Amino acid sequence: MELQHKVVWITGASSGIGAALVKAMYAQNCKIVLSARRVARLEALVQHLSISTDQYLIVPADMEKAEEEAEQWTQAVLEKFGRIDVLINNAGIAHKSRVVETQAAVERKVMEINFFGLAALTKAVAKQMQQQKSGMLVGISSLLGDFGLPNVGAYCASKHALNGYYESLRYELAADKVQVLLIAPGFINTDITLNSLDKNGKAYQKNSKAQEKGMPPDKCARKIVSAIRKEKKKVYVGGVETYFRWVNFYTPSLFRYLMKKLHKL
Ligand SMILES: NC(=O)c1ccc[n+]([C@@H]2O[C@H](COP(=O)([O-])OP(=O)(O)OC[C@H]3O[C@@H](n4cnc5c(N)ncnc54)[C@H](OP(=O)(O)O)[C@@H]3O)[C@@H](O)[C@H]2O)c1
Repeated sequence: MELQHKVVWITGASSGIGAALVKAMYAQNCKIVLSARRVARLEALVQHLSISTDQYLIVPADMEKAEEEAEQWTQAVLEKFGRIDVLINNAGIAHKSRVVETQAAVERKVMEINFFGLAALTKAVAKQMQQQKSGMLVGISSLLGDFGLPNVGAYCASKHALNGYYESLRYELAADKVQVLLIAPGFINTDITLNSLDKNGKAYQKNSKAQEKGMPPDKCARKIVSAIRKEKKKVYVGGVETYFRWVNFYTPSLFRYLMKKLHKL
């Protein structure tokens, strides 16, 4: 896919991978739609990059309200740019807590943002792409969409759900030439763990060493741009941790042994 002058909508654009994607897409000369709740951060980012007003649109969006508001957000983008070429569903939240201790409200919030909100926005945009007979839906999943690990049960569930949903959708949209791409990052050095919820829904406020040693978000964004340009179906982005999927696939008992050791269980 040639990205120049394409309209690219990035959710969760206020930090981490999303903010890096804004920079990477701007470098490709795209028209960019930025969404998140922290609008001041989105404004600061477009100012920092000196993006001209005809090249971007900020659509404030809380993914927990997507079921009611996604159609309006989509209309706002169509009013400004007339089309949507790429939607990158990147907004997401994690939690750090054991399954039996996690309040149901925390599980619901994670699923609402990472899956149900994403599903509502996907549907609103997919209908437009079907009419255009072109477009690409990108889901920022996770390595944890492929297997489970301790203390991230609902997060893993949300990313497994996204994988299944997008893989089904890929077949349904193929006749209309709408593509579906899944990105599965490993450790990327962002605030995702810092912004995680604890078992009661309070801010976790600690970062993990693995996160801090992860791939820089700018490098991750460049790899995502490359996957979009090459029209890939699923791409893993990160360091050696991404190879654990092969250990899990070929020798699941060894994988479980290693993970128990790693998590001191
Ligand atoms: N970093 C990693 O190692 C890693 C690994 C695998 C997958 N991922 C995935 O990558 C995506 C981006 O995460 P990140 O690492 O860049 O973390 P991050 O820095 O914490 O960014 C998360 C983004 O999601 C947005 N967001 C959170 N709740 C939202 C809500 N209710 N409505 C709208 N936007 C919301 C945040 O914006 P506001 O707070 O301004 O709304 C923020 O822009 C997530 O889907 C995450 O699951 C990350």
